[in-house]
Amino acid sequence: MTQASAAAGRTVLVTGAAGGLGRSFALGFAERGYAVAVADVDESGAAETAALIADAGGRAWHGRLDVTSVGSTEEVAAAVAEFGGGRIDVLVNNAALYAGITRAPIEELDPAEWDRVMAVNAKGPWLMTRAASPHLGAGSSVVNIASATVMSGSAQWAHYVSSKGAVIALTRVMAKELGVREITVNAIAPGFTLTEASYGHMADADSYGVDRGALHRASTPEDIVGAALFLAGPDAAFISGQTLVVDGGRQFI
Ligand SMILES: NC(=O)c1ccc[n+]([C@@H]2O[C@H](COP(=O)([O-])OP(=O)(O)OC[C@H]3O[C@@H](n4cnc5c(N)ncnc54)[C@H](OP(=O)(O)O)[C@@H]3O)[C@@H](O)[C@H]2O)c1
Repeated sequence: MTQASAAAGRTVLVTGAAGGLGRSFALGFAERGYAVAVADVDESGAAETAALIADAGGRAWHGRLDVTSVGSTEEVAAAVAEFGGGRIDVLVNNAALYAGITRAPIEELDPAEWDRVMAVNAKGPWLMTRAASPHLGAGSSVVNIASATVMSGSAQWAHYVSSKGAVIALTRVMAKELGVREITVNAIAPGFTLTEASYGHMADADSYGVDRGALHRASTPEDIVGAALFLAGPDAAFISGQTLVVDGGRQFI
């Protein structure tokens, strides 16, 4: 069976897919033959991603999603299940507050920003999976996007790193709960990756940390996509609750 035929008839929902890594996940799944639902708070960016998929001959749905809202997550899950002919095969929980968040020591971090980051990055994947759950079936997969910062404990980023630590913990709980329904739940922990958001954080993004990686080059969004395709596909059917670090060998866990 080819990888494309394994994906035939399968539907994936990628959250936060208006650009950056989410858009690359959406395009990668579309290339493999998945029908792709693209959702983001940035509805016009989501529409652009869906148009790119449609222009390349793929099948795409797009809509506005706020992962902090029970109503929005339930509405999108229902619409995507309808788009998928009654079910959601793969959920990629990628939406997060990453672009533009503050780097500050723990004494100076704004408590209100901590709450916002936790609401989107930690509670969001729970709310989205909660809403998708009735539409997931045996053979479905959830792929949560964490971060390798959890392993390094990046200084001055307590809210972001803690929120991604919560994603790894949530992955393990959801793997146990959904595993009884033959649904796998795994996380990807990307290292620093060259997206527009990353250039906003780091003036020297192209060279940042390159000398610390075994592969000695910067990571592009396309470097992360293969891990999501693998964890969502049949070759990973007996893998659950795991976190896969994809960082060109910067850190070993
Ligand atoms: N790039 C990296 O180096 C790196 C490394 C490790 C992990 N990650 C993770 O990879 C994912 C994508 O990162 P990225 O670099 O592509 O950043 P990004 O472009 O900022 O992607 C995040 C997307 O989520 C959307 N979003 C924010 N709040 C939302 C909400 N409440 N509901 C729905 N969507 C929402 C954002 O929309 P707005 O732009 O309108 O806010 C944005 O389109 C994130 O989970 C990030 O934490 C990134």
